[in-house]
Amino acid sequence: MSEIVTREIARRRSFAIISHPDAGKTTLTEKLLLQGGVIHEAGEVRGKAGTKNTTSDWMELEKQRGISVTSSVMTFDFKGLRINLLDTPGHKDFSEDTYRVLMAVDSACMLIDVAKGVEERTQKLYEVCRYRRIPIFTFINKLDREGKNPLQLIDEVEQTLQMSCCPLTWPIGIGDRFMGIYHRLKKQFILYDQRRLENPPLVFSYDHPDFRQWWDRIPKDIAEKVTEELDIIENVLPNFDEERFLSGHLSPLTWGSAKQNFGVDIFLDFFVQFAPSPLPRRTEEGNQVDPSANFFSGFVFKIQANMDPRHRDRVAFIRICSGRFERGMKVYHSRLNREIRLTYSNQFLAQDRETLNEAFAGDIIGVTDSGNFAIGDSVSSSGPVRFEPIPRFTPELFCRVTVKDALKRKKMIDAIRHLAEEGAIQLFVDPAVGPGDPILGAVGELQFDVLLFRLRNEYGLEEVSLQRLTYTVVRWPRRGEVPVTQLNGNFRIYYDMSGHPAILLNELWDLKWAEKENPDVVFLPTPF
Ligand code: G4P
Repeated sequence: MSEIVTREIARRRSFAIISHPDAGKTTLTEKLLLQGGVIHEAGEVRGKAGTKNTTSDWMELEKQRGISVTSSVMTFDFKGLRINLLDTPGHKDFSEDTYRVLMAVDSACMLIDVAKGVEERTQKLYEVCRYRRIPIFTFINKLDREGKNPLQLIDEVEQTLQMSCCPLTWPIGIGDRFMGIYHRLKKQFILYDQRRLENPPLVFSYDHPDFRQWWDRIPKDIAEKVTEELDIIENVLPNFDEERFLSGHLSPLTWGSAKQNFGVDIFLDFFVQFAPSPLPRRTEEGNQVDPSANFFSGFVFKIQANMDPRHRDRVAFIRICSGRFERGMKVYHSRLNREIRLTYSNQFLAQDRETLNEAFAGDIIGVTDSGNFAIGDSVSSSGPVRFEPIPRFTPELFCRVTVKDALKRKKMIDAIRHLAEEGAIQLFVDPAVGPGDPILGAVGELQFDVLLFRLRNEYGLEEVSLQRLTYTVVRWPRRGEVPVTQLNGNFRIYYDMSGHPAILLNELWDLKWAEKENPDVVFLPTPF
C-alpha cells in the first residue's frame, strides 16, 4: 500500500445523522455543508426552483407529504478531512433504508430537540448504532427555543438509551435567554447574540479583559444555575474517554441551534478531533478486512433507480471497505461469480454529482448499474470477498399489484423488479402462477404509497393499483441450513427475489400451526 493511499484513507470520515423527524436534521445538514463550503447559502439542500439541483421525481412526493424518503450522500472537505455525510430517511416506514445506511458509516451524530428529548425514532436508530457499536456524537438542538432542563435532559438520554454522555459544552440559559455555551475542553465562553449571527461569535476565556463585565451582565439566576450545573458535571459525569467513545459506550455531547448556525462549528471541530477513520469490516466467514489492505473491496448498501430524471439511470452505492478505487477498474462480483468493470462512477456533492476517477476506503461511490447489483453484493479486486450480509426487515404488509392495460403488464413487472432490487419493497412469487403476478411485501404503509407514486411518475404506469392482501406474516422455512420447499399442513411455498422459499400467513396463530406440523423446521423472520 503506497503512502499516498494510506494517507488518503486516514483522512476519510463517513457518518450519518440520526434523529426523529423535525429535530432539525435537514437544517443541521445544511449548516454542515455551509461550513464545508459545499453550499453558499441556506436553502440549497432542500432544492430551489430554477437551480441546477437534481431534484428527483420522488422528492416531489417528499415535498408533498413533508417527509424524507430517500437518502443520499454528501461529500465535503474540512480541515484536511474528506467527510462523507450520508443522509437517512426520517420516517419510520423507511427504517430499512436507514438501517442500510448505518451499515455504511463509521460514526453517527444523534440529533435531539431540546424541548422533546429522546423521541421514538431516535431511540430505534440509536439501537441500530449500538448493535453495530458505532461511535455516537450527540447534538442537542434548538437552544434558541424553550426546552428541557439540561441536566434532566442528559439524565433522560442516559436512562432511555443506557449510554453515558460526556457534555463537552454546556448551555448558558435557553430560549429567549440563551446566552451561549461554555466550552469545557477550551475553558471558553462562546457568546450567542441574535443580533449579530452573521458574524463569528465573541469568545471569552476567564482571563479575557471583557469577561467579567459580560458575566456580571448575565441575569443572576442564569449565572448561578450554570455555575452550579458546571460544578455538578465536573464532579459527577464521566470525563471524555476515547476508548469508550469508539466502542459506542460514551457519547460526547454538545449544544447549539442549527437554525441560527450556532454551535455547529463546535460540533464539527469535535467531529474532526474524535471521529474514527474507516473501521475494518467483517466478512461472512468472520475475517476482518482492514481499510489499508492492499486490494480494493466494498459492498453495495443502497440502490436507487431513476435518481436523476435527466439521466434515467440506476445507481448502486458502494461503501469502499479497503484500498483504492480507480474508475474503469475490473472487480470480482462475488454473487455473480465473475468479473465486472466499474466504468461510470460518481461522487455526490450536496445534490450534484460529479464523475469520480479515484476513491479510497471509507468513501461512498455511486456506480451506474445496468442490473448487475443487488443490495449486499460485495466486490473486490482480489477474488471473492463476501462482506457480512445486510439484514432485511420482515414485511408485515402485503399486496398484489395490477395494471388495467394488459399490454403494460410486462413493463409493470420489470418496474417492480427494479424497485425490489433497490430494496424499496420485497417480492414474492408463487411458482404455480409465475413471476407475472407477484406479491409485494412492505415494512410500512408509506412504502406502498411511494411505490405507486414511482410506478406512475417514473415508469408512466398511470393505471396501476394495489390490492391489499390479508397476510401479515412471512417466514423462511429451514431445516438446519437447508431451505425447505415442502411443508406438512398444506402451506403454499412462495419464492423471494433471491429464490429463497418462504410462506405467507394471515396471522401468528398460523405460524404456530406450521411449527406444530413441522417440528423439525425453523421458520426464520429473514432469509438468512
Ligand atoms: P428534519 O429534517 O429533522 O425533519 O427537520 P428540519 O431541519 O426540516 O427542521 C424542522 C423544523 O425545525 C423547521 O421548522 C426548522 O426550521 C426548525 N429548526 C431546525 N433547527 C432549529 C433550531 O435550532 N432552532 C429553531 N428554533 N428551529 C429549528 P419549520 O417551521 O418546519 O420550517 P422553516 O419554515 O423554519 O424552514
